[in-house]
Amino acid sequence: MTEPEASGVTEPKTTFNVADLSPVEGYKLGSGLVVPRPIGWIGTRGTDGSENLAPYSFFNMVSGDPPTFLYSPGPNPDGPKGSLRNAEETRLFSINIVTAETVEAMNATAATVPHGESEFGLAGVTSIPGPATGVPTVAEATATIECRVTQFVKVGREGGGNVLVIGEAVAFHVADRILDGTRVDQAGLRAVGRHVGNTYSNATDLFDIVRPA
Ligand SMILES: Cc1cc2nc3c(=O)[nH]c(=O)nc-3n(C[C@H](O)[C@H](O)[C@H](O)COP(=O)(O)O)c2cc1C
Repeated sequence: MTEPEASGVTEPKTTFNVADLSPVEGYKLGSGLVVPRPIGWIGTRGTDGSENLAPYSFFNMVSGDPPTFLYSPGPNPDGPKGSLRNAEETRLFSINIVTAETVEAMNATAATVPHGESEFGLAGVTSIPGPATGVPTVAEATATIECRVTQFVKVGREGGGNVLVIGEAVAFHVADRILDGTRVDQAGLRAVGRHVGNTYSNATDLFDIVRPA
């Protein structure tokens, strides 16, 4: 095996051993570096009929066949977050894609509200039942994915850590104006990514790069 050619140029770096970091410091470093993160704007309903809508940037598509997604609710002093409790109860969630048009509404739904109070109203968006599963979805979203839960996976420290809510897509709903068959027009989608804290980016600086054969 040949060694990679050294560029001869390195930058000064600080090393952080995780054993010496507080949980907040580890979170800040990780979430400041793994950017931009997509935002799953997650709609759920509990067995009592109450609806919930909240943003999760520990979120991604994690497999293609079938299309599989996860979001990751963290610990909460007052018991499980609404998006976890509801998914445990009804095993359904919707992913509403956050775009430039809905980013302010998304932010409003991050507020902590008592169980049973809907963040849909708080953010001024309309809840409509997904046609495939009935899960609450955001009518104003450019695109929505209805998902059925397949797994819950606990990660992280005992007494802290998160629960991965993993689900398979049942149906995609995508605005016609950004579709060419099943190809999604990236400029038209205007997706927003999360960086660290209150910092976001628009996906406006798009470029293509040809993959080697
Ligand atoms: C852009 C953004 C991303 C967020 N990502 C997460 C996340 O990945 N995990 C998490 O536990 N909380 C995350 N939060 C905080 C939750 O949205 C917040 O705790 C919310 O109140 C949870 O609502 P719920 O209890 O109705 O599920 C995020 C907040 C914002 C604004």
